[in-house]
Amino acid sequence: MDAIFEFDDEPADSGLETLVEQLTLDEADADAVAVEVGRPAYAADGERGRLRAADFTPVRVLGQGAFGKVVLVRHERNGRLYAQKQLKKAVLVVHGRQARARHERAVLEAVRHPFVVRLQYAFQDQHKLYLVLDYVEGGELFTHLALERQFGEPAAVFYGAELALALIHLHTVAGVMYRDLKPENCLVDRRGHLVLTDFGLSKTGDGARTLAGTVEYMAPEILAGAGYGFAVDWWAFGAVVYELATGSPPFGGGGDRAAVMERITRADPPMPFYLSPDARALVTACLAKDPAERLSATAADGVARLRGHAFFRDTDWAALERRDPALVPPVVPFVTDPAAAENFDERFTSQSVLSTDADYDADIETAGSPAFAGFSYSASAGC
Ligand code: ADE
Repeated sequence: MDAIFEFDDEPADSGLETLVEQLTLDEADADAVAVEVGRPAYAADGERGRLRAADFTPVRVLGQGAFGKVVLVRHERNGRLYAQKQLKKAVLVVHGRQARARHERAVLEAVRHPFVVRLQYAFQDQHKLYLVLDYVEGGELFTHLALERQFGEPAAVFYGAELALALIHLHTVAGVMYRDLKPENCLVDRRGHLVLTDFGLSKTGDGARTLAGTVEYMAPEILAGAGYGFAVDWWAFGAVVYELATGSPPFGGGGDRAAVMERITRADPPMPFYLSPDARALVTACLAKDPAERLSATAADGVARLRGHAFFRDTDWAALERRDPALVPPVVPFVTDPAAAENFDERFTSQSVLSTDADYDADIETAGSPAFAGFSYSASAGC
């Protein structure tokens, strides 16, 4: 079957494109039916009434993707800042992505974890779906990595441990395969803790066949086109820890996608001389080509082996899980004025927040297509 690639939630020139192969049988639709939780819309803070686009004032653009953008907004009623992910319905329909959008909203609603972004509200109008997320002020971990070139091992241990906790929770508690783990989807909050965002490619349950993810972080079994499972996230985890420690992904990047795929399938990653034996051991275990051999949370004793790995010998897991104030993260972002979004790429923050397409606030619960029914959600109502 010919692969049809589409770019997902990536700025056109980022060079790290997320690929999704559209299968004839819409796997995403089946997922969405299983997890869809229809909810009425509520106003903020439990106050009954419909949320609308007009309840939020756009402040700044934080990011831009193929299906819409992420905008820093101020909630008019409570005065707080949020990151509002806007998805254009017309674009979702053209690309057959309605089910994925519903699924993203359902997963975000279901998952509660200190290192996973929190959904506060979801609503829609005639033209867009809106996911209103906690604003993670430190921006992308990737931006800080680019500034420092490489973090060094203590930082790789710290962020690796927070990421491991998030993935262990997703796999063993929520039953969610994330499928797009890469530094850009790891944000850092005001205190410097990791927050995983963008669940647009996530899937409920083990077992998938769709070619999905970002090539640099894609496991060999995804590239092989065979079935795959939760272990793909641990491959990507190994790649991200490697990149945190060395400054580059293990199988290279930079545009030659075919060469990257070839190395993922056949080559061992280069091990720079300065990587400690523990770091080598962890990335080697996570980058095992055979998913059955890979260190992963769903393997036998997997969670104990991950938490007990020598790379994490100095990690106080309990302190990390409760975000103990005594822990000082390796990156504490500089935030003088949260509304200024200083930690976000100027390519986005310098853009006008005024939508080129007019902002509509029609009541979609009656006016919208049934494809988007039940999208609305409020964290403060009934949870
Ligand atoms: N980009 C995507 N999600 C975000 C969030 N919750 N906060 C800040 N930037 C984001």
